[in-house]
Amino acid sequence: MTQTITVIRGDGIGPEIMDATLHVLDAMNLGLRYEEADAGLAALEKHGELLPAQTLESIARNRIALKSPLTTPVGEGFSSINVALRRHFDLYANVRPAKSFPNTRSRFPSGVDLITVRENTEGAYIGEGQTLSEDGETASLIQRITRKGSERIVRYAFDLARRTGRKKVTVVHKANILKTTSGLFLKVAREVAALYPEIECNEMIVDNTCMQLVMRPEQFDIIVTTNLFGDIISDLCAGLVGGLGLAPGANIGTEAAIFEAVHGTAPDIAGQGKANPCALLLGAAQMLDHLARPEEAARLRDAVVATLEAKDALTPDLGGSGTTTTFAQAIASRL
Ligand code: NAI
Repeated sequence: MTQTITVIRGDGIGPEIMDATLHVLDAMNLGLRYEEADAGLAALEKHGELLPAQTLESIARNRIALKSPLTTPVGEGFSSINVALRRHFDLYANVRPAKSFPNTRSRFPSGVDLITVRENTEGAYIGEGQTLSEDGETASLIQRITRKGSERIVRYAFDLARRTGRKKVTVVHKANILKTTSGLFLKVAREVAALYPEIECNEMIVDNTCMQLVMRPEQFDIIVTTNLFGDIISDLCAGLVGGLGLAPGANIGTEAAIFEAVHGTAPDIAGQGKANPCALLLGAAQMLDHLARPEEAARLRDAVVATLEAKDALTPDLGGSGTTTTFAQAIASRL
């Protein structure tokens, strides 16, 4: 079966890591067809706009996109192209796995295997109603949490647990202080959890969660939380297991899903062949899971792990002297 996916090569190191990723995917003979679309600076140069209509149409048509990082130029109308994409397709679930990998500069080279499921469309993070008083002394914003937004993200987390055989969902909140907003999220989470009796549900206050993650991350399986807490926690988790070069993420909605590396365009190393392609490759593995191809996702992850274990052609961020291309070739050779 041929599956067409939209491919966005992006800016900075984006084209390099995308070439590497497609090289590995091609070596797997998955029957994927790539439809190239532009966004970011590359799109601005080619089409005169950062997020052209044909890119949105391509994603809408294919429902799946693999995306490299993008540069949002300051003062071009968007606060972020990524946020614009999330809004346009109502990509309400930000899903970020964090797993221990061997031979990485990591505090936890083993034992961590968790997924953060972050609500992506509401809460303080979206900056709704931001105001600054005339004297510049008082700033405020609206933190809006809805039953609908809470329910669908918590359901997503429990469905993910059910689908992947994971056993526990931790609901992260601050309902002891933020009694209305975080309180509503927690109340809805409890209602949803009751529908999944086979999955353990525990509740944890966000500050304690951060401490527990640093001290005993192996206790977590799936974490579900609101937008701003999830933004911070998911980067904390990436830091536990080796940093941004190994951190993939997915933005998932009912009509479309976009898979990516968590890191940015790394302008300091762009064009030098030094970029680590693993984060985007692991994003591609998430994409294969989403396409209900878990064996192929596991095959791809196993090849990444085997290459890290063998310390074969690792890029400089992992302490090696390989290049983006030779690292990808080493991974492809282990499929
Ligand atoms: P960054 O993630 O691009 O870079 C931070 C540091 O990590 C740099 O030293 C970089 O060389 C290193 N790094 C990142 N990815 C790496 C990789 N794959 N291999 C080896 N080293 C890697 O973050 P920064 O510098 O804050 O942002 C640069 C640009 O990226 C900005 O224009 C920002 O807006 C954009 N950005 C885009 C994102 C996206 O499209 N998803 C996400 C984050 C930032």
